[in-house]
Amino acid sequence: MTTVPVNASKQYEIVIGTGLMDKAGEYLRRVTKGDAVMLVCGDIVAGLHAPRVRAALEQAGYRVEQFVYPHGEQSKTPETYFALLNALAESGLTRSDTIVALGGGVTGDLAGFAAATYQRGISYVQMPTTLLAAVDSSVGGKTAIDLPAGKNLAGAFYQPSLVLCDLDALATLPEDVFTDGCAEVIKYGVIWDAELFDLLGKGIKDQLEEVIARCVTIKAEIVNKDEFDNGIRGILNYGHTVGHAIEKCSHFGVSHGSAVAMGMVIVAKAAALSGICDEGVFDRVLALVKQYGLPTKTEYEPKALLQAMLSDKKRAGAKISLIIPEKIGAVRIEKMGLEDMNRFLRPVLEAQTWM
Ligand code: GLY
Repeated sequence: MTTVPVNASKQYEIVIGTGLMDKAGEYLRRVTKGDAVMLVCGDIVAGLHAPRVRAALEQAGYRVEQFVYPHGEQSKTPETYFALLNALAESGLTRSDTIVALGGGVTGDLAGFAAATYQRGISYVQMPTTLLAAVDSSVGGKTAIDLPAGKNLAGAFYQPSLVLCDLDALATLPEDVFTDGCAEVIKYGVIWDAELFDLLGKGIKDQLEEVIARCVTIKAEIVNKDEFDNGIRGILNYGHTVGHAIEKCSHFGVSHGSAVAMGMVIVAKAAALSGICDEGVFDRVLALVKQYGLPTKTEYEPKALLQAMLSDKKRAGAKISLIIPEKIGAVRIEKMGLEDMNRFLRPVLEAQTWM
């Protein structure tokens, strides 16, 4: 078992190990005051893991209420959010009670935003069940729902009281969902940790606890420095500007991890072409992304992709912050206008000649 501390506006721990779902009650007792819990999960996780977590919470003396929604991004809506707020109110949860978010990124975002706003804020615990949620969305307090105008447009920075990452849950993931999370893991190697990048060359499943611990240690360090995303936290978006554009062009038919993987490869190539990094950096990013079975090229038109990037919510004024690798383990943030973006990315988007 590994414990990683986060020292943001709230201090909390990320615990990674096996058998943690069965110990959820005893861990919650350390960080909560009240006796009621709202267990939030999608319908698939409700069948797979919720009974185990529920039993552990009840054994520790909690009254457990459950909110189950149809899984998937299409549920991250104001309607589901209001339904959850109503469920909290009807169950009589008070400010000393707790929400437990058991699931992937959608559950964490939705439950976290409800926690941030119900009775002006009650505590919540993240229990990620996907690799992507384990290494990224469950840590750092970004919570949100989607609006008809776009993804994550209503939200709050609101830190959890605890993150419990049970490797048993990750072991039940379908292969493609696990692979999707690997893109975010590779990202940490490129932006921060050359040793992690090397480690990933040896595979991930036999060293999953160490890999997740390294990723969340990096995320915790970045969040400690820039909790509200005004500077260095932006580097977590390596591969995401192009990735979001690919997701948008595919009407979200391309998964997040696949899109980020393509984005990382494309930006690494552009960085190599413009002399910001060696060609060897691109070769290594490409090789690792391929090794993990993630895609490396997009078929969407450069014009459509560039247009989609311009409507990215992370755009500050007329500029887009692009995260560019200088070497494995270090990136820079460049603010680019449309013309700079065009010059930097278009040649690569037009000729993705790598195999
Ligand atoms: N997922 C990026 C961040 O938490 O800032």
